[in-house]
Amino acid sequence: MNKVAKEIDEYKRGKTKEEIAEKYGLNPNEIVSLASNENSYGPPPKAIQAIKENAGRVYRYPSPKDAERIRREIAQKTKLKPENVVLGTGSDGIMESLMKMYIEPGDQVIIPTPTFSYYTLLTKIYKAKPKHIQRNQNYSLPKNISNEINQDTKIIFICSPNNPTGNTVTTEKLKQILKQDILVVLDEAYIEFADQTHAPLVKQHDNLVVLRTFSKAYGLAGLRIGYALTNPKITNKYKAVSPPFPLAIPSIEAAIAALNDKEHHKKTIKNNQRERKRLQKEIPLKTYPSKGNYVFIDTSPIKATKITKKLMKKGVIVRDCTPIPGCKDTHIRITVGTPKENTKTIQAIKKITKK
Ligand SMILES: Cc1ncc(COP(=O)(O)O)c(C=O)c1O
Repeated sequence: MNKVAKEIDEYKRGKTKEEIAEKYGLNPNEIVSLASNENSYGPPPKAIQAIKENAGRVYRYPSPKDAERIRREIAQKTKLKPENVVLGTGSDGIMESLMKMYIEPGDQVIIPTPTFSYYTLLTKIYKAKPKHIQRNQNYSLPKNISNEINQDTKIIFICSPNNPTGNTVTTEKLKQILKQDILVVLDEAYIEFADQTHAPLVKQHDNLVVLRTFSKAYGLAGLRIGYALTNPKITNKYKAVSPPFPLAIPSIEAAIAALNDKEHHKKTIKNNQRERKRLQKEIPLKTYPSKGNYVFIDTSPIKATKITKKLMKKGVIVRDCTPIPGCKDTHIRITVGTPKENTKTIQAIKKITKK
């Protein structure tokens, strides 16, 4: 085992209903799981049907035609071409392939914090150095971010809407960063909930990769489907370094069906907007503006770890952001749930904060 593998801790995922039920002696059916920003409205019905219809095909490897079909559907949705699209086992899988393509041991990766913690973990696994740069007070990117780039810098990760803070990057700022001679990985995992994508910029900037996922708005986290939008020079090399069959047949079929399940998508986006506003209004703590399917909250004067534990005891699982670099020990993140789940969450927070 190499030195990094010996030293590194695994990615800390949100707690599951089963874990919390066992720990606090609760009924798992009454627990509300709002720690991983999944789609609270479940998977698209058309995707479930597609999985059932294609179950009998799984003794074969996915064919190149299957991958081509999904790339064409994604190209149509994003108004780009199939040669601009690559596929991966979740956007996590795509990040890993990009690391293989761009990183040598000792390189530097810029990560404006707080943000999605997997960027840092991957950077360390690939024996590169994460350079954390604290975002501004409102979590926008700092003015001088380009000053941090040196000859060792190979990648900058920008998450928009940013997880966990919920804000997006401006076009002006992004274009300024794109002028640098490094790969800009723009993670748009939550873009369907927001109003502005920067994906069209891949036509003008050959150092931009836009990451997308079916795990959030499309409700298919368990199938592990990610894609990226970029220029054909990168997509061709990407195919050489990525595993040969990144997506399983049921995943491909479910993703195509999800793209065409307009009703489920509309319901997801509309309900998220309404319920996000309700959480922001009714939670008696400082909440930040959010373009994602989650709300970032400052629980001051109560510590995040304390309130997270109290909420879990009441059957509400949220994310304690204390361990995330750049967060305060009073930051939590709550996924927008269904109306019933949100009511339970709001009531639980009100009870805890009254004491
Ligand atoms: C910002 C961000 N990017 C990527 C991912 C991983 O997504 P996937 O399920 O596609 O691997 C997550 C998951 O929470 C995320 O928050």
